[in-house]
Amino acid sequence: MKPSLRPSFTRPWPCIASNFSTFFFQLPTPLTHARNITQIRHRHIHSSPSPPPPPQLASSPPPLLPLFLRPPEYTTTVSDLLEWHSWAKSLAASIGSSFEDSDNGPDSTLLCRELNWLMEDVLDGSDPSLMHKAVARDDPDTIISLKADVQELYSLWKQRIDERRPFQYIVGCQHWRDLILCVREGVLIPRPETEIIVELVGDVISKDEGLREGLWADLGTGSGAIAIGIAKILGNYGRVIATDLNPVAVQVASFNVERYSLQDKIEVREGSWWEPLKGVEGKVAGLVSNPPYIPSDDISGLQAEVGRHEPRLALDGGAEGMDDLLHLCNGAASMLKPGGFFAFEVFRRQAATVDLCSVAEVQQNAYAYSHLFEPKPIRVLHPS
Ligand SMILES: C[S@@+](CC[C@H](N)C(=O)[O-])C[C@H]1O[C@@H](n2cnc3c(N)ncnc32)[C@H](O)[C@@H]1O
Repeated sequence: MKPSLRPSFTRPWPCIASNFSTFFFQLPTPLTHARNITQIRHRHIHSSPSPPPPPQLASSPPPLLPLFLRPPEYTTTVSDLLEWHSWAKSLAASIGSSFEDSDNGPDSTLLCRELNWLMEDVLDGSDPSLMHKAVARDDPDTIISLKADVQELYSLWKQRIDERRPFQYIVGCQHWRDLILCVREGVLIPRPETEIIVELVGDVISKDEGLREGLWADLGTGSGAIAIGIAKILGNYGRVIATDLNPVAVQVASFNVERYSLQDKIEVREGSWWEPLKGVEGKVAGLVSNPPYIPSDDISGLQAEVGRHEPRLALDGGAEGMDDLLHLCNGAASMLKPGGFFAFEVFRRQAATVDLCSVAEVQQNAYAYSHLFEPKPIRVLHPS
């Protein structure tokens, strides 16, 4: 697996550990006349300094097309872009560790890193050396192409800081494994820890041709991350059904599937858990899912980016966080063919409960996977 170029800032639920990139976009030294702006230091926490000049805040609906895929149809001067960047950097710096202290949110170092990624996406396709040359020539009027209007950039960065809108929704994508997946409001941002489900599948299919050539299902597919990851490692073999109850997720997953030209390999179906798999009972080689597993009462304590912006349907697993997980464990046996495989992401404490509650009738090769734990076999309680 190629490492993700831009690992997510997003903390594993419920925001325990951080995992972010050391990649920096090297911004050229600000032009002389823009330096004044960098001197501005705003110390208001949770509120934003006024940008120079005051932006016309565009209310942009969440784009389906990620920033990096948009055509570079806007132009601006190097000085205007650097002025925005200086304002945005000041705003990020004003946050210090206040978000981190309140709910383990991003600190200003991470926000500055995101700002560089935003620059990278908005400049993508235009010649970055133009910026360097303009700076070297001290030519602030050089025109460069952008993928978003500068006023939109002001608006987006205010949303990032003031509303704690997740960075991935701002740019419309998440780097995950070797994929760049489109995401938008209504769809869970795929997490780094979930990448391991694809690794587990890679391990089992390398040892079992039957699994490699069989039918796989990713239940609650969200952006389609796991389904696409599996389809890619299956190569010319097997196929995948990706399901979700949420029509926005179905739309986004379908978009991502098409972007990777996997329409012939992955079928995206809308419906609740087992319902879209009617007709393939007993025929599925492998089942995977990262179901909602956060206990309802814990949702309000989540990092603002998660609790305020990510879909509750993707997070809330009921009183103990086990509602969907148990439903999946109980149904897995009738869906899987003998020797089938399943892997569900769960919390460590839930893995123990799954072990006890599971009525999986599959023969071996069944795993509950907790990202805080080693994968462990689920006890077969009723071997058929
Ligand atoms: C934790 S998210 C996982 C998304 C994606 N698989 C990932 O790992 O990034 C759980 C997903 O389950 C979906 N979901 C919730 N209830 C569902 C149900 N009853 N049937 C099918 N999908 C459901 C949500 O819409 C959400 O996309």
